[in-house]
Amino acid sequence: MMSQQQTLVLLKPDALQRGLIGKIIARFEEKGLKLVALKMIAVDEELARRHYVEHLEKAFFPELLQFITAAPVIAMALEGQEAVGVVRTLMGATNPLEALPGTIRGDFGLSLTKNIIHGSDSPQAAARELETFFAGELLDYDLSLNEWVE
Ligand code: RTP
Ligand code: MG
Repeated sequence: MMSQQQTLVLLKPDALQRGLIGKIIARFEEKGLKLVALKMIAVDEELARRHYVEHLEKAFFPELLQFITAAPVIAMALEGQEAVGVVRTLMGATNPLEALPGTIRGDFGLSLTKNIIHGSDSPQAAARELETFFAGELLDYDLSLNEWVE
């Protein structure tokens, strides 16, 4: 069964510092996904711990915390058919060294930590993460191109 989903994307500090945010947002627009929220936000330690709660005890967490708080991120909510999995496919593998060409990480990254982008990994994670970043802020509107995309 196909279903309409919403998912959270973060363009990480390296995407901002490297001037990649326009290119990456364009990929989601071109795919036909609908933006339902968008903002720039400085992630502090409290927000990082809330967002990455499943990684708090991992050995890489201190490095991840340092990275994700080092400069602002661009947070967005995207909506569309199977949006959670579609966004993960467009992102590519977690390790940019293994991500296929044509994916965001495959085309733009070389570092496992500085891997450019976050996307929710399940509808359940998406619901939790959207609440963390956009509680009450998701917009409901008609996107005219949708009738030609879906
Ligand atoms: P994300 O949550 O950011 O979308 O990435 P993901 O699902 O593909 O990967 P996940 O396993 O959730 O890891 C979260 C982020 O932690 C950093 N990481 N570093 N040094 C390491 O071993 C390591 N492993 C993961 C990456 O920034 C990864 O995206
Ligand atoms: Mg993850």
